[in-house]
Formats: sequence, structure tokens, C-alpha cells
Amino acid sequence: MDIEFVSKAETLEGAVLAVLAFDEAALSPAAQAADAGAGGAVARALAAGRFNGAKGQTLDFLAPAGLGAARLLVVGAGPQGGVDALGVEQAAAAAYQAVKASGLATLVLQFDGLNAETAARAGLGVRLAAYRFDRYRTKEKPEAKPSIQTVRIVAADPAAARDAYAEQAALADAVSFTRDLVSEPANVLYPEEFARRVKALESLGLEVEILGEKEMAALGMGSLLGVGQGSVRESQLAVIQWKGAADKDAQPVAFVGKGVTFDTGGISIKPAEGMEDMKWDMGGAGAVAGLMHVLAARKAKVNAVGVLGLVENMPDGAAQRPGDVVTTMSGQTIEVINTDAEGRLVLADALWYCKQRFKPRFMVDLATLTGAIIVSLGFDYAGLFSNDDALSEGLLAAGIAEAEPLWRMPLPAAYEKLIDSPIADMKNIGGRYGGSITAALLLQRFVDGCPWAHLDIASTAWKKPSTVPTVPEGASGYGVRLLNRLVKDRYEDA
Ligand code: BES
Ligand code: MN
Ligand code: ZN
Repeated sequence: MDIEFVSKAETLEGAVLAVLAFDEAALSPAAQAADAGAGGAVARALAAGRFNGAKGQTLDFLAPAGLGAARLLVVGAGPQGGVDALGVEQAAAAAYQAVKASGLATLVLQFDGLNAETAARAGLGVRLAAYRFDRYRTKEKPEAKPSIQTVRIVAADPAAARDAYAEQAALADAVSFTRDLVSEPANVLYPEEFARRVKALESLGLEVEILGEKEMAALGMGSLLGVGQGSVRESQLAVIQWKGAADKDAQPVAFVGKGVTFDTGGISIKPAEGMEDMKWDMGGAGAVAGLMHVLAARKAKVNAVGVLGLVENMPDGAAQRPGDVVTTMSGQTIEVINTDAEGRLVLADALWYCKQRFKPRFMVDLATLTGAIIVSLGFDYAGLFSNDDALSEGLLAAGIAEAEPLWRMPLPAAYEKLIDSPIADMKNIGGRYGGSITAALLLQRFVDGCPWAHLDIASTAWKKPSTVPTVPEGASGYGVRLLNRLVKDRYEDA
């Protein structure tokens, strides 16, 4: 996909021209000009239908007379005057979605008044909308393939827009990297393969260490290793570092990801129906890998660490049993009542390791941790659990700016007793109610007082159906944009 920035659309021949309209079908200046050029076709269409300029609506004209364009697309952008960077991005994505398979190769976005920042966000919107995972399609009908090859964005200062776009392109690349990881089937993407793909990020300037089972056993990571012991695939811990701050020894920010490359449930096996979804149980680790990718690609002025716990949860003669007691790296013991509550067992050791080794400014973990968060929040919000109000506030704001929203959930001390065990320091499940909360309370026992936030992304890692044009059905890449924004707005050197 070529994204170009131009000061005006030189020629529209063979292209789709996209312009904006606002609530109550108010036409933007470019839409008015297109209407005039097409002999009032837009005004007549407004009278003949129910297009009203609401966000996401489109009105499509094929081969309009008088415009020189092969197609005219009017895109609804919602309230006039309320079209911010995110609104532009979503409108650009909606335009792309509407005509991607039109058979035409060029889309011209003539949105009035785009500055460098908003023009760049239009480019991001198109890139995110155009993502597809087509590695395993060998027989796709040509007419089903997207036809748009070039998107030309009209901007006041094209050179400045191109500069601003470099950073957004890096972000789009990183989100695509994460979406690829999450989309990969588990026979292809198992812990060692995940680790290899992360190791390959060293070409961007990241430092990557991979720990195997032997190293983790020496560190005492009995909890993480217990989850992987029923799998023929070796468990891995990936440690990724980006040193972009002026002071390379400055305290880093840290991100920890649940990377269960497949979650059968283990001996507490899941029902067959829908089990295939558990290939995306590594979405947290995927998001952290994508975040490190974008921080390096845009040379963020920050020191950052990513720790990924990579395991496969399988039932087997060697698998852990319900009732087993594991000893974590922290020394605390956990009675494994349900082998399907494995994400918290992986994170318990990954969080502790991260805190002990790096003494970070904060830790944010991402995990497709509980079905219960989907029951609580539905598919559009991830759950936020945190012991730190300032960190939470930063995350909530970043979520709004990047359309990756979060909803803060409580960590009530009174629920701690729900994970009491009669024989160990705790048990790994807390009973039927408040399941996302008891999971988060367990994680909190492994952060050792560090400012910390846990994002339960079981609700947002995978979209079905698509609800925003920048996130096609399938792997969302949720978390990459959110955390990139958090770092950019609050934790980088001036
Ligand atoms: N990976 C699942 C959570 C999940 C469920 C993610 C649905 C995405 C969609 C997790 O490991 C799990 O199995 N959690 C159990 C916990 C229970 C055994 C306490 C759950 O949510 O049912
Ligand atoms: Mn599970
Ligand atoms: Zn899981």
C-alpha cells in the first residue's frame, strides 16, 4: 500500500475521490465542490436517501458526470467541528473499507484542512484498515482481493505530513506485526517460534534475550514451568530491552505479556466448541512485542523492557494436575485448583522476574486472562486493574486517544480471602464470581509494591465482527497503540 501526500489532487482519472460530510448531512467545502462539479448529484442523492453524515456512513457515486473521478465517495464524519485526529483517522479508514474492493486502484482523500498531524493520522487509518492475514490463502478469487494500491492524501503541507507520517507508519507496522503473531495458528507459532520472531527484532536495535526451561528452572520459576510441562514445546521467556533514553542506565518502564501460544485448559480441559480461539491466548505477549517494535522503530527517548512468558498449555502424561502445588520464583506457593487458570501462573513468575531484575518505574501487564472480563465489559473495553492512580489515569487517557478504551475495575482487599488455600499460600482460582478481580488480586501479590497495572484484554484481542474501520475482523493488535501513546505522552525524555 502506497500512502502519498499531495497539496492538491492533480488528476482524478480512474480514482475514487473521497470527501467528508457532517451531521445533518452538512457538506464539507470539498464535498460542496464535488457536488457542484457533478451538477448537484450529491444534493439530489441526499434528498433521495437517508445519508445524514453520521460517523461511518458512506454515500457512493459510480462514474459521476463532470468530476473526472471514476467514483465519488461521501464519508460521514459526525458532528461538524468535532473532527479531531481520531475522527480523521476513522473517516479515512471508513473510506478505504467502503471502496477497497471496488476494482479501482487509487483512492484520493480530499478532507479539508488537514494539517501534518491529522494527515498522518489519515494515513495510519488506511494502513490499519488495510491489514489482512493472507499467508495461508492460496486460492482466493481475484475479485475478492482488495484493489486499492495507492492512497493519496491532500494536505496543506505535504512535506510536513510525510514527516509526521513516518512515525504513524512505524506504528502501523508494529500493529501489523502483533496482528500477524495473534493470527498465526498454534502449530506454527509455539513458544520457540514466537521467541525467534522476537529475536529478529534485534535488527531494529532492540536487545533480546531468550531464556529456556533450564535457565528458568535455575531461577526458580516453578509456576510458569508448571504450565508448560504438559507440552512437547519448550517454554521460553523473552526479555526485550530498548535503551532510547539519554541516560542508558535510567530506570526503565516495563511491560509484561501473557504468551500462551495455545490454551487447551490442560487437564482441566476446555470444551471443544470455540477452543480454536485459544490460539490467540498470546495476545498480551503479542502486544508487548509490537510495542517494543514501535518504540525501537521510532527511536523513542525512553528505556523500556518487555518480558514475555511463552508457554503452551496442554494435557499430557507429564501435565500438571489439579491440586498440584507449585513454588513461584518469589517463594510464594500456589495450589493449582484449575489448570485452565494458567495465565496468572505464567505472569506470577514473569512479573516477579521483571521487578527483581529491572526495578522499573512501573510495570504494565497485558493478558487474555479471563472469560469473566468479557462478561463484565463486552468486546469493546479491556479491564484495567491497578495499584496506582497516576498510571491508571495515563492509561485511561491513552485509551481514549487511540480508540483502545479501558475501564477501571476494583482490587478490593476484602476479596483476598477468596484465593486462600488450605495447604499453600494461595490457590489459583477464586470461585464463580468476580473472576477477573480474583485473577488480578493474585497477580498483585507478585509485583512487590511496584506501581503496576494489569490489562485484561481477553475482551479486545480479537474482533468478531469488526466494530471500527481501523480494526478488521480478527486479531486487533489491541494494546500496541495504547501503550505507545502512554509512553509517548508521559514517559519520554523531553
Ligand atoms: N485464556 C483463558 C481466558 C479467555 C477466555 C481468553 C475466553 C479469551 C476468551 C484463560 O486462561 C482461562 O481459561 N481462564 C478461565 C479461568 C477460570 C478457570 C477461573 C476462564 O476464564 O474461564
Ligand atoms: Mn486457561
Ligand atoms: Zn489462557
